[in-house]
Amino acid sequence: MSDIDVLPQPVIAALGLFAPLFHDDAPYAGGVGAAWAPGRVNLIGEHTDYNDGFVLPIAVDRVIAFAGRAREDTQVRLWSSHFAEYALIALDGLPESFDEQRARLPSWARYVLGVITELVRAGVRFSGFDAVVHGDVPVGGGMSSSAAIEVATAQACMLFSRGSFTIGAQDATFQPVEVAALCQRAEHIASGVRSGILDQAASCLGRPGKAVLLDCRSLEYRYLPFDAPGFSLVVIDTNVRRELAASAYNERRSQCEEAASMLRDILTRAEPQNSSNKAIRALRDVTQEQFARYGSELPATLRRRAGYVIAEDERVMETVGLLEKGAVERVGPLLWLSHAGLRDDYEVSCFELDTLVEIARQVPGVLGARMMGGGFGGCTINLAREDAVEVLRQAVDEQYLARTGLRASIDVCRAAGGPGSAI
Ligand code: GLA
Repeated sequence: MSDIDVLPQPVIAALGLFAPLFHDDAPYAGGVGAAWAPGRVNLIGEHTDYNDGFVLPIAVDRVIAFAGRAREDTQVRLWSSHFAEYALIALDGLPESFDEQRARLPSWARYVLGVITELVRAGVRFSGFDAVVHGDVPVGGGMSSSAAIEVATAQACMLFSRGSFTIGAQDATFQPVEVAALCQRAEHIASGVRSGILDQAASCLGRPGKAVLLDCRSLEYRYLPFDAPGFSLVVIDTNVRRELAASAYNERRSQCEEAASMLRDILTRAEPQNSSNKAIRALRDVTQEQFARYGSELPATLRRRAGYVIAEDERVMETVGLLEKGAVERVGPLLWLSHAGLRDDYEVSCFELDTLVEIARQVPGVLGARMMGGGFGGCTINLAREDAVEVLRQAVDEQYLARTGLRASIDVCRAAGGPGSAI
């Protein structure tokens, strides 16, 4: 139960929308409640998650909320305020009816269906519900609105399941990282993208004033201070979305898998006495030093992909060291380097992202910036001194439109808490 005063604003708005939108005589069970989950930024560690590596995300003060009531039957009726449309999901027949239901749902509701399907597959039984879906995570804007809707769905199902399963407490049915893994599987079946666990874990594990270091292999995590007074996290959206992103993402993932398996064979042949070489399963297992010695044996494209990932994992650990010392301003140079690697070696940036990073680079007081997320559009993350934010905003306003013909959207975010619910 949460105090109404501390409910995120979109939760209050969603609660206000429910009664006017669902006023028929549905067979309701129990009162009105709300559940929500945040979007995220990723400070550093891009495209490392599906390489079993490390990421350093921060949940932000933007959420997607469900407000509604449990039903006595097995219907889930949803209204999205952003898309201004209803969607209907039937719990009966899942998981078998997944493909047929997915085909007739709008894309936002496919994420909800994905989570519900994975909960059913995990053996959880729950009743239907009606809910309004409302939020302030920019949709498709690089703060992972899809992970936020997935994690909020899991919270909503728990809330409206009236005790049939729980999340989070020590003896709960699901621990937060298990919910993240379940939502990651939901994302795969909903979107067809073989994404890593970064976005869902970031949403599940958020804490005010903290970044989370996540080991994407063991799923162990720990919190690092990120309440740096005097510094701001600025997210700038290129307002470019490219269809190519999904197929390019899956292609990068396959290239990394191929590079890891080739490096295992190369290293095993070159150093048979070192038994750990045979155990290389992912790029995470290859050190910078091994890569410097044997990377040249890879075909050129795979060499660039692997080189970026191995260096990026190292940058995550360097950033962790700096945050532990409270040296936030020294994180900046690592962000520029991360961007250069994503642009030149991993090749997931684009003209608009590079333009935003170049503009940021000329603003004194911007300590570092880089593209964030999958790439080919979406947004950049900028670490700036508070007093540089307005100058950055002006520079983007003046130059981005002139250079790209597009308008960028600028958002200043804070490190905020994870999912929640209230009756
Ligand atoms: C997307 C995916 C994540 C991660 C990032 C790149 O956001 O959903 O799993 O791979 O791209 O770091």
